[in-house]
Amino acid sequence: MLAIEPTGAVLGAVATGVDLSKPLDDASYNRVKQALGLHGVLCFPDQALEPPEQVAFARHFGTLEINVAAGPFTEPDQPELMILSNKRESDGKPMGLGDAGQGWHTDMSYSAEIAFANVLYALEVPHREGQPLGGTMFANMHAAYEDLPGDVKQTLEGRTAVHDFEKFWEMMRQRPGSTRGPLTPEQRAKKPPVSHPVFMEHPITKRRVLYCNPGYAVRINGIPQSDSDDLLAFLFEHQLQEKYRYTHRWRVGDLLIWENIGTLHNAIADYGPEEHRYIRRCQVMADRVFAEAA
Ligand code: SIN
Repeated sequence: MLAIEPTGAVLGAVATGVDLSKPLDDASYNRVKQALGLHGVLCFPDQALEPPEQVAFARHFGTLEINVAAGPFTEPDQPELMILSNKRESDGKPMGLGDAGQGWHTDMSYSAEIAFANVLYALEVPHREGQPLGGTMFANMHAAYEDLPGDVKQTLEGRTAVHDFEKFWEMMRQRPGSTRGPLTPEQRAKKPPVSHPVFMEHPITKRRVLYCNPGYAVRINGIPQSDSDDLLAFLFEHQLQEKYRYTHRWRVGDLLIWENIGTLHNAIADYGPEEHRYIRRCQVMADRVFAEAA
């Protein structure tokens, strides 16, 4: 039977007693969804999952995205399942996206239809001197919203912010060793900047969250540029304070699911090319979670 134990930290819970290679009953899917709202990040340790089983689990939470940046890095016949890895084939070809998510961001805030959840399954985890590397950090945006000073809440109430895919792309491109080229005009046209409310009602908790992140947010609409710059700088510093953070240290067999509306995340790039990380990832869009909340 499904048991969900909170980590006791600002985010995170561990879910045991279920084998995700088999369908769960409706009550259990619902408990997982509610736990995602409450704890943001849920780890199911010691799972043994084939690609279709991971996809089937993820599909219960909404439509799966087929990521345009995944290129060749998906499982055969499973375009929803992207490979995040720094491993290479014997001919030197990369086996996965090596630098995905290495910086604070919220997945798909740059898209008109935003993402609800990520479902990642770890097949290889790098270690050094017995310690796991390549962890994933999270920050709690329910708590960050609640702690905002009253005047900032008042200024931002009802406002929207522009999110731009190119911002994160360029940050990754500027890193030493990056093989990313600039976005072509065609790629840029496929991902035009979009606006979202800075404060959102979370569809599960019904509480407010700060929906803004340093990876993609570039402008608060409707105020002068310099005020927007100052406010964004304030929000980015505020939302990444240590007190809102939680780090997941991966173990092989972890199925980690997190929700993107109330959290930010950052994949820690603390491992070298010979320290192998291999993770399969699905992304669940927020269509169903918002429809069910309505
Ligand atoms: C992501 O941003 O979805 C990747 C996170 C990770 O690899 O830890």
